[in-house]
Amino acid sequence: MKHLLSAADLSRDDALQIMDTAAQMHDVQRREVKKLPVLRGRTVVNLFFEDSTRTRSSFEIAGKWLSADVINVSAKGSSVSKGESLRDTVMTVAAMGVDALVIRHHASGAPQQVTDWVDAIVVNAGDGTHEHPTQALLDAYTMQARLGDLAGKHVGIVGDLTHSRVVRSNLLLLRTLGAEVTLVAPPTLMPSGIADWSAVEGFSYSYDFDEVLPKLDAAMMLRVQKERMTGGFFPTPREYTVGYGLTRDRLRALPEHAVICHPGPMNRGLEITADAADEARSLVLDQVSAGVAVRMSVLYHLLGGEA
Ligand code: CP
Repeated sequence: MKHLLSAADLSRDDALQIMDTAAQMHDVQRREVKKLPVLRGRTVVNLFFEDSTRTRSSFEIAGKWLSADVINVSAKGSSVSKGESLRDTVMTVAAMGVDALVIRHHASGAPQQVTDWVDAIVVNAGDGTHEHPTQALLDAYTMQARLGDLAGKHVGIVGDLTHSRVVRSNLLLLRTLGAEVTLVAPPTLMPSGIADWSAVEGFSYSYDFDEVLPKLDAAMMLRVQKERMTGGFFPTPREYTVGYGLTRDRLRALPEHAVICHPGPMNRGLEITADAADEARSLVLDQVSAGVAVRMSVLYHLLGGEA
């Protein structure tokens, strides 16, 4: 595997190896001196054409803790705002001799397209509504740390699925790891062609969160992506929460051992209440912490550093 563009690039062994290495990298995070020399002399450029807090900062920290030289370029403040094309921007950056490009872009398929233009390793840090493979890896890592082997575990992915890249990557990876997955959304936010897709990929889907909730080992709540919505997908925010939010009442129906995940950023009070986001079973901050370790592991494996 030269690039990481999709969760589909990962076999079960690949994913488990990345998660095993991430567990070792996680120990670095707990040390006073957070530095490994494994990517010394390598250069990683984070190219972010879309806003990010978690992914951009964790890739930056990950590269720095592995001793790589890390440069951040964002659309705002770069020549992109003067009208430079994606091709010219990435070829310009690549001409400086970089080893890896970590790309977030609003267009689905942009990181794949970039691999045709440059020799550098490309990591997809979220492309449009397509994929976010390192998010899926860190989600799986976090759930596995709490629940054990994910094979046979039941994960519900709930919310605005139509606009989500996280759902696609999570679905692919969780199925690769043997988990049972149920997608839950209102009809307006369920991806089109869901019946065929679920039959091919071997997952379930439902419009009834309350029916699915008591059967889950993990409830993964996804953000309502208002910035990608051009029409009315639900009557009012209140009605969305009543039907699909992880509310205080629904917490009581979630099995005691089950965990709560959210990739962030959260709309508190819409898809998840503060009670759910902040309770002991919530892994939201564990996911953020794992993001650094998993991205260290991904950079380490792709850039081929010696342990
Ligand atoms: N989960 C996620 O990708 O968050 P950011 O948009 O803050 O990177």
